[in-house]
Amino acid sequence: MQRKITLEEHEIPTAYYNILADMPHKPDPPLHPATQKPVTPDDLAPIFPLELIKQEVTTERFVEIPDEVRTAYTMFRPTPLIRALNLERVLDTPAHIYYKYEGVSPAGSHKLNTAIAQAYYNKQAGIKRLATETGAGQWGSALSLACSMFGLKCKVYMVRVSFEQKPYRRSMIMTWGSEVVASPSSFTNAGRAILEKDPASMGSLGIAISEAVEDAATHEDTNYSLGSVLNHVLLHQTIIGLETRKQFEKAGVYPDVVIGCVGGGSNFGGLALPFIKDKIDGTAGARTLRAIAVEPASCPSLTKGEFRYDSGDTAGMTPLLKMHTLGHDFMPPSIHAGGLRYHGMAPIISQLYVDKLIEAQAYEQNDVFGAAVQFARVEGIIPAPESAHAIRAVIAEAQQAKEEGSKRVILFNLSGHGHFDMSAYDAYLAGKLGDVAEVTKSATVAR
Ligand SMILES: Cc1ncc(COP(=O)(O)O)c(C=O)c1O
Repeated sequence: MQRKITLEEHEIPTAYYNILADMPHKPDPPLHPATQKPVTPDDLAPIFPLELIKQEVTTERFVEIPDEVRTAYTMFRPTPLIRALNLERVLDTPAHIYYKYEGVSPAGSHKLNTAIAQAYYNKQAGIKRLATETGAGQWGSALSLACSMFGLKCKVYMVRVSFEQKPYRRSMIMTWGSEVVASPSSFTNAGRAILEKDPASMGSLGIAISEAVEDAATHEDTNYSLGSVLNHVLLHQTIIGLETRKQFEKAGVYPDVVIGCVGGGSNFGGLALPFIKDKIDGTAGARTLRAIAVEPASCPSLTKGEFRYDSGDTAGMTPLLKMHTLGHDFMPPSIHAGGLRYHGMAPIISQLYVDKLIEAQAYEQNDVFGAAVQFARVEGIIPAPESAHAIRAVIAEAQQAKEEGSKRVILFNLSGHGHFDMSAYDAYLAGKLGDVAEVTKSATVAR
């Protein structure tokens, strides 16, 4: 039985896939926070390069990947598609389980796929420096490496709770040559305003985004870079699903269920969107495909959020996005899956959820770490706590297949490894990890 399905470097896709060409209902447009009118390219020009603004709005089905970006991808792509034979055996399930392993990237996750593309387009536009936020540190470290590859400077606003929990992610960011500060920081108006109200604030992705956007808007040579949520980020991540489709073709397999964890929606979208295209097209074998987005019970934007316009950040500086949201001032509890602590969701993923083209599930973190440990003990790889949410849902699906005595092919995105999350594993193994069953939704109306 073949365990790994691999591709050659020349088989790396030459174009990203854009689901905006095929969605039955397109997401509503982003609105300017002051005028409440749809944002124009000119509104975005102070913080994004033109090529990325074009990618944000294009409805072309395929967007060519520049040669330099494809060459940079060969550092770690194509990534392997692996059959989880040992997990299947211990679960005693008739299901076949495959995972696309994005943790082979030098930064340890899928985030490098869009970091490389974003650094490239900013460099092409003559930008010298990028500012960004990071939750778990995965995105900050990926962008830091990408900036180093393309000769850009970079400043990372890292959510304070992760800054303290993950000192080695900080070290990685600095090793690749970027500056990293704990957010909220005293470097921006947004950060100072939060610190004034709550000097002990542990931060959130929403706050860190406000700081990075402000940094970019107030420095001529600096642009802002976002690691998830936006259309162009999901576009870049489709390289994951496009490769996977080729790998399955080689093996003569097609998935019945596609699963990914969701923070802002990019690794799930990256894997699932090319398959959802097949479903929308009514391709044989894909009509009954199910795609499941998995989130933490403590930050359940899809399963408990409202679908409405809301700000992408805490200070209300970003455009208003039509998405599932817990409210832009929602302060998620300090769960260890820092990359999933975001109040909102990608507008593309939100619209697909409304249109019932995808499903969503939420799990408590002890349950998630249980699944992570079970996976690590048989498959070897220690998953990032974010990715472990997907594993939890995979196990539920495989158990259901067993109960029903039905075979099914389950595909999931192992979006990153957890080598810098061992303190969270320690806490779980010592029985010290709490669950947050009840989450209060913010009632704040969008500004
Ligand atoms: C390993 C990993 N997986 C998933 C995520 C969630 O982000 P997204 O939903 O954009 O894939 C993160 C975010 O930091 C991450 O580090």
